[in-house]
Amino acid sequence: MPTTPTGRRVVVSELAETPVEAMEKFIRVEPMDPPDVNALGPRDVLVRIESASVGWVDLIMTSGQYQHVPSPPYTPGLEYAGVVVWRGEEAANKISIGNRVMVDGLLAGPRSLGEYRRWGGWASYAVAPAEAILPVPTGMSFDEACNLLGNYETAYHCLLARGRLRAGETVLVLGASGSVGLAAVHVAKLVGAKVIAMGRSEAKLAEVAAEGADHVVVTRKEEGVLVPFRDQIKALTGGRGVDLVYDGVGGDLSLESLRCTAFGARVLIVGWAATPYVAKGKGGRGAPNANVLPTNLIMMKGLDVLGCPTVLSTVQDPSIRAPRLAQVLEWANAGKLRPRVSHRFALSEIVEAMKTKWNGDVVGGCVVTPNSEPA
Ligand SMILES: NC(=O)c1ccc[n+]([C@@H]2O[C@H](COP(=O)([O-])OP(=O)(O)OC[C@H]3O[C@@H](n4cnc5c(N)ncnc54)[C@H](OP(=O)(O)O)[C@@H]3O)[C@@H](O)[C@H]2O)c1
Repeated sequence: MPTTPTGRRVVVSELAETPVEAMEKFIRVEPMDPPDVNALGPRDVLVRIESASVGWVDLIMTSGQYQHVPSPPYTPGLEYAGVVVWRGEEAANKISIGNRVMVDGLLAGPRSLGEYRRWGGWASYAVAPAEAILPVPTGMSFDEACNLLGNYETAYHCLLARGRLRAGETVLVLGASGSVGLAAVHVAKLVGAKVIAMGRSEAKLAEVAAEGADHVVVTRKEEGVLVPFRDQIKALTGGRGVDLVYDGVGGDLSLESLRCTAFGARVLIVGWAATPYVAKGKGGRGAPNANVLPTNLIMMKGLDVLGCPTVLSTVQDPSIRAPRLAQVLEWANAGKLRPRVSHRFALSEIVEAMKTKWNGDVVGGCVVTPNSEPA
């Protein structure tokens, strides 16, 4: 039985028009009693949460702009890590009380499909089925563990499964300071590729360089217009252009990045952090502000433009997950990759945490710590 008295959880009371509106109006922190273990099943595991990621998908789910729409009131927190405080008898051969664990966000929590969807990580406690429980990799902190699977599985899926990145190739990573961007820098270096990291902040890019990027290029705007960077990228690639673009940003950066490619390059559509309002708010369907493709550049440069939705591709073909998960966990347990977490907040500071992530102030990951005050 848990020993901590009353816990807390974040609740989203209704879907907002935008994540910003959600932060202003629909987020509250409320008391939470530890779940009654007598009501839990034989394969259930009760986790006291030490750290939960504040991810981009968590934010856009609050306005129903993500493809998987939650039903409010709900508790966000796709990925979390903590300590096992109770487990059912059928889980006992695999999981012990006191184990340090992380929870697979595809099998439990708000991104999952079944009955465990209601247990989000922005809370003192959550319940997950035994199959969703994984040990925290060797030497990793809870903060790092809850930033591992989503970000690094995305980087693996995009760069390796879709992009077929090979040693010696050059990849241009847009938004390289962000969560999936920095994961891509790490994964690309692990497979022996050359990385050119892009971003708007010299200070954040200095941290990305310290994480392994071979080159960093700062983008800037003059009177609201992006200053072209094609010549800089061409100079860094001996005039040839890059073999891959990893694009989690979108907008004018996407367009200019296509001009930086070698003929026949692969362009990985990872996300659109710069144009988050392509979909309707409040869970409405349709994409009134859909991003637009520059077909002339795609055609004349012989580009392969590859959509890379990690979760949707996995739902379509579940067999792609096992090798991906095995590789990410092997790298993690061997100490070859370690998520960087730049910001930690108490659960009571959740709105500040969300704003920090939304404003792009994070380098790597951002977490909330439901059962402790950050040092
Ligand atoms: N394909 C998938 O399966 C998958 C999985 C997870 C996430 N995603 C998507 O990937 C995208 C990034 O997610 P994330 O968690 O990495 O977000 P993030 O941590 O906020 O990083 C995004 C980065 O993009 C840059 N950026 C943001 N707004 C920009 C703008 N207006 N102009 C230029 N650069 C801008 C920022 O870098 P600088 O400040 O350094 O410029 C920021 O660090 C999101 O669209 C998310 O939905 C896709």
